[in-house]
Amino acid sequence: MNVKSTQGGWAMATVVLGIVLVFGVGYRAVSAQQGGPATGPLMEDAWENITALNGEPAHLMLPTMFYFEAALGVGCPYCHDPDNTKRDLDTNELKDVAREMIHMVNTLNENNFGGEEQVTCFTCHQGQPIPGSVPTVINAEVPPKLEYTVPVPAPPAIPSVTVAQIFDKYIAAVGGASALQDVPGLTAVGTVTQRRPGRDFAAQQFEISAKAPAMKLTATQAGQNQNLVAYSGGDGWAQGGNGNVRDLRPEELDSTRLEDAFNLPAQLRQLISNPQVDHPEVVGNRELYVVSGRTENMPQVKLYFEKDTGMLVRLVYFIDTPFGPYPTQVDFADFREVDGRTVPYSWIVSQSRGREYTYAMQSVRAADVADARFARPAGAGAQ
Ligand code: HEC
Ligand code: HEC
Repeated sequence: MNVKSTQGGWAMATVVLGIVLVFGVGYRAVSAQQGGPATGPLMEDAWENITALNGEPAHLMLPTMFYFEAALGVGCPYCHDPDNTKRDLDTNELKDVAREMIHMVNTLNENNFGGEEQVTCFTCHQGQPIPGSVPTVINAEVPPKLEYTVPVPAPPAIPSVTVAQIFDKYIAAVGGASALQDVPGLTAVGTVTQRRPGRDFAAQQFEISAKAPAMKLTATQAGQNQNLVAYSGGDGWAQGGNGNVRDLRPEELDSTRLEDAFNLPAQLRQLISNPQVDHPEVVGNRELYVVSGRTENMPQVKLYFEKDTGMLVRLVYFIDTPFGPYPTQVDFADFREVDGRTVPYSWIVSQSRGREYTYAMQSVRAADVADARFARPAGAGAQ
């Protein structure tokens, strides 16, 4: 910050002085006698224990500290000794972390932005002490802002319930193993509506055929053409309106299986490896058990089961990119009974950058679908 006018300089000096008195810290009053900001004392001249802010104007100490508070969403004691007359002490290890951050930001700007102050604490922290590293999906809860001096709240304890109990309760919630066996096939018709910030799309009609434990075909109407996406066990394919067929990419196959709302109960145990009960979460006013695991081609999947009903209401999967995990969230809702099975009539697929796909069923009914329906079309312009 540059204080250009004398008036501004005095205004700042007054503010700093007032705050220094309020906080009772040991600012050596050398600045008042020495001219304008450009030639004024530096941090290391005026303050007791400076090893990172060297070379900056001394009068910017408190504004800098307020900025740190805002950038990280914390209060002074987050980095300092709780005794507010001892800001110079290094009794809080986070003060040293902050020093390293200061050096890092200076080096970043020096080496990459010609010394311009382009990267700031807020660039990464965005009001949080630990910056997020995974893009959020829409509908994702934004982590709560911390109160002035409250430390990061510990996550709620992992409950003593087992993965087997959670999965069993889920199977019971969707009608039980016998209903899944009695009604292995379902067909559904409905619409999918895509939303992006600032853009509206027309709803598209689709038809789903599903068969236990692991076969599904989705045919989406696109103008005169149909787009098909299907999988059968470990093989998946897609066919565009031009007739060309391609294999699903490995992580695309896994996401197609995870988004198969009708077959998920039948193949959950096979699909999710290394499942573990995670910290529970509250979404809206619902308590959710969380199970974390992975699929063959995705490093992390999180499944959210309603504690009361046992129903799977959300899943989040992460695609491993060279730059970090890319998340997709699926929220299941509007559960209805179809011949003894309970199935979601709606689900919303949310991704970063505000992309959202809403699937709404018009009808779901039991059906005996031939296995051949899910097989990759032969010789149809494969690519
Ligand atoms: C994000 C961590 C962080 C927060 C929050 C923070 N400070 Fe600091 N503060 C530092 C660091 C780091 C230094 C030492 C800078 C250096 O070594 O160059 C420092 C130094 C100071 C100093 C100079 C002490 C001396 O004599 O050497 C004062 C005064 C001070 N802070 C006051 C505050 C006040 C008041 C608040 C709250 C309004 C605050 N700080 C919030 C990290 C923080
Ligand atoms: C390039 C990104 C980036 C910038 C810019 C950045 N930080 Fe950080 N900061 C991080 C990351 C990442 C962590 C978490 C490290 C970890 O979890 O071990 C972190 C952690 C911290 C912590 C420790 C928080 C805790 O509770 O453990 C403090 C304090 C901190 N930063 C202060 C600052 C300050 C002050 C600035 C600006 C001078 C700053 N950071 C700028 C990325 C950044």
